[in-house]
Amino acid sequence: MSIKKTNFIWLNGDIIKWEDAKISVMTHALHYGTSVFEGIRCYKSYKGSVIFRHENHINRLYNSTKIYRFPLKFTIKEVINAVHIIININKLKEAYIRILIFIGVVGLGINPPKNYYADIIISAFLWENYLGNNAKNNGIRTMISTWNKIKPNTIPSLAKAGGNYLSSLLISSEARRNGYDEGIALDSLGFVSEGSGENIFIIKNKILFTPPLTSSVLPGITRDSVLKITKNINLKIKESLILREFLYLVDEIFLTGTAAEIIPVCSIDGILINNGKRRKITKKIQKEFLYLFTGKIQDKWNWLDHINL
Ligand SMILES: Cc1ncc(COP(=O)(O)O)c(C=O)c1O
Repeated sequence: MSIKKTNFIWLNGDIIKWEDAKISVMTHALHYGTSVFEGIRCYKSYKGSVIFRHENHINRLYNSTKIYRFPLKFTIKEVINAVHIIININKLKEAYIRILIFIGVVGLGINPPKNYYADIIISAFLWENYLGNNAKNNGIRTMISTWNKIKPNTIPSLAKAGGNYLSSLLISSEARRNGYDEGIALDSLGFVSEGSGENIFIIKNKILFTPPLTSSVLPGITRDSVLKITKNINLKIKESLILREFLYLVDEIFLTGTAAEIIPVCSIDGILINNGKRRKITKKIQKEFLYLFTGKIQDKWNWLDHINL
């Protein structure tokens, strides 16, 4: 899961060497978690390198800055352009792209002074599957976390903010300590929410269930892609509140995220999903997702942003 460093990083409009991309120990975000970010993937496709749902990711990033009222020096268009530059200059054919917007050196008062701008870093590098390459085929073992997700009107779950990942750290590290691959959290009311870095989907009797955004889930771009792609498959879709014990009784479960992609779950709290039988529909959805890059299904949504290398 280590990342493969590249040569250059984009920092506030300048292209600098990876080694020179350093920030002050007095960075506000380091002390108070005041950052928002995006993880985006660039894939090798039948038409060359493509950034998957680039504009949707940058829109979500700007929504995160809007929620936290971060003032920005750069437009959405300029950031999109900068991502192309950083992929080109690092000569990457495929990549994981990380964009971080944070409050920099503005003093240590919690409320930043007037007339500051948030800093932006854009990096791109190779990063293998977040839950390990075997996970896509073999599935992962999960547990319900003892930690609940953030409650509505505390820390906003619609923003992809650095501070949210303290909750993710508790959920994920508890699972690893107990010998599982990933933790799944319930929301503050006890309904199923999501994994530490992934949305969750459940299949029961040819119905695809996923929790609504009101269950404190991140509005995942992969989640939205799966909801759209499965319209090609004979499945009903239901966004509904999900009880914990329902997870023990379903046919298939999978998790989705940019870093993890589409990962089957083989057990939860030690209970095998569908007695460990084949995960036919999950496999079909994984394939449909990859067909976008092989050209077997048409990109009718305009999700692929082509890179001119
Ligand atoms: C908490 C959380 N939920 C869901 C997701 C999935 O979102 P996406 O598919 O946009 O990567 C992520 C990953 O970014 C995440 O961190």
